[in-house]
Amino acid sequence: MHRKYDKMYLRMDIKIISFQEHGNKNASLSVAECMKEIPFNIKRIYYLYNVNNCQSRGHHAHKNLQQVYIAISGSMKIMLDDGKHKKIITLKEPNKGLYIGKNIWRNIYDFSKNGVLLVLASELYNEKDYIRDYKQYKDYIKNRKI
Ligand code: TYD
Repeated sequence: MHRKYDKMYLRMDIKIISFQEHGNKNASLSVAECMKEIPFNIKRIYYLYNVNNCQSRGHHAHKNLQQVYIAISGSMKIMLDDGKHKKIITLKEPNKGLYIGKNIWRNIYDFSKNGVLLVLASELYNEKDYIRDYKQYKDYIKNRKI
């Protein structure tokens, strides 16, 4: 991952997190703990895998959910959009996580063959927390700021 991603983004509520590393010459071992590297208590995990390279996922924002994305195998790209700015981040290092705050639209695409995206989530699954229509998302963001 590029070094410039190793800092808090001031304009969007995302950041790259570096995990603890306890590996040796025989094996790598990365660790992330709640309220240390992960800035919330983890209530749920899920993972995306066997994703066809031409498939894209996501296409939604969450009103209250915070997440950390980790490419535990292979690589994938994440397009992030907060209604004002867009960023594309390539995840490919298992010792790094991408924190995504609330109200950020994301598309996930370009999975490598062995790509596995682990997601740590701050809340249990709640379909009502999703905004799945981009126009509704833009309206929600606009009205939220008034
Ligand atoms: P979705 O979050 O839209 O997946 P992606 O971001 O990869 O496009 O979820 C896909 C389907 O799985 C949707 O029908 C909701 C369901 N689902 C759950 O039931 N529980 C969960 O924790 C998640 C993440 C999804």
